[in-house]
Parts: sequence; C-alpha cells; structure tokens
Amino acid sequence: MGSFLINTLCYLSLSLILTASATTNRPFSDHFAETKPTPTAIKTTRLHFYFHDIVSGKKPTAMRITGPKNAFGTTVIIDDPLTIDTKRGSKVVGRAQGLYAMASQHDPSLLMAITFVFSHGKYNGSALSVMGRNFVLEAVREMLVVGGSGIFRFARGFALANTVRYNLKTGDAVVQYNVTVMHA
Ligand SMILES: *[C@@H]1O[C@H](CO)[C@@H](O)[C@H](O)[C@H]1NC(C)=O
Ligand SMILES: *[C@@H]1O[C@H](CO)[C@@H](O)[C@H](O)[C@H]1NC(C)=O
Repeated sequence: MGSFLINTLCYLSLSLILTASATTNRPFSDHFAETKPTPTAIKTTRLHFYFHDIVSGKKPTAMRITGPKNAFGTTVIIDDPLTIDTKRGSKVVGRAQGLYAMASQHDPSLLMAITFVFSHGKYNGSALSVMGRNFVLEAVREMLVVGGSGIFRFARGFALANTVRYNLKTGDAVVQYNVTVMHA
C-alpha cells in the first residue's frame, strides 16, 4: 500500500513535468541553451619559444611534489618561463604552468599536463593547454594541444619539443617548443 502510494505520487509528478514542458512546445535544450553557427574563420598560428625548466638554485621554477627522485612516480609542478631566445635572461613571452610526471616504469617518459599562458603583445592573457607523452630521450617529441582560451578559443594542434640544453649536474633544461595550432 505504502509503495503503491509512492509510485502513484511519482507518476503524478512525472506527468506534471511532462505536461509542463509539452505546453511550452519547445525542445528541452531551448530552456537553458542557445545554439549559434560555429565560427568558420579557422586560423593557423605557429609559435616558437624556449621553455626553461629550472630545478636547481635558490629560485627553482620546477618543484618535485611527490614520488621518488627521477624514477617512476616522480611528479613535478612547474611555473617555467617561456622566452624568445635560448638564453635564460632573454625576453619572457609567457609561462608554462602545470605538471609533469614520470609515467613509465620502463623508460624516462613523462606525462605532460601544462598550460602555456602568454604575456606578449596580442597574445597577452591567452592560453593553450598541452597534454601528452614526452619521451625525453627522443630528439623531437610530439604533444597534443587540446584546447585554448582568449585568441586561442577552439584550439587544437600539436607541439614539437626538442631539448637544446640539459645540465646533467643540476638537472636544469632548456627545451625548444614549436607549436602549430588551429583556432577560431
Ligand atoms: C598583459 O595584461 C596584463 C593584464 O591585463 C597587464 O597588466 C600587462 O601589463 C600586460 N602585459 C603586456 C606585456 O602587455
Ligand atoms: C622549430 O622551429 C625552428 C625555427 O623555425 C626550426 O629551426 C626548428 O628546426 C624547428 N624544430 C622542430 C623540431 O620542428
């Protein structure tokens, strides 16, 4: 008896909801969403910069937060400067913020999950999010650009990375990034 009552009440409220939406005669999604044509002006932008991963010294820009040192599980949070030249003191055009982790038990390959946030000219404030596998022993590694904001809305593309300098003693690295991205 009790459960019958509950079932009936449920049925009644369900039919009330259905009746309410039927009377407005509009698809459900119209109540909260508006659909417009997709922007058709797809542009391609190529970016070229240097990524400075500084793990040593008084002001490291990369910090190990968990896991062993340089082994499976190592996880590093970064806020690395991006510059127009290989020199550390050259003009900063953005930062790489996010993390990388040693995600292979068999080789030095990293999972990269970073956002390039730009601060230069018309790119100031725009960002690209990059994910992918970075097998650091390979000369050129390819990662995915999975999205973007600001100028880079609707972004997708790829990033090619190659290490320009790696200091075996300190662990500091300079990596050249060539990013090709399509966006609105
Ligand atoms: C970038 O934008 C921020 C905030 O709008 C502003 O403070 C800064 O001066 C800008 N930087 C450049 C290099 O244009
Ligand atoms: C990246 O771009 C630079 C400058 O255009 C070029 O010299 C270099 O060969 C490129 N590297 C890769 C891996 O595509």
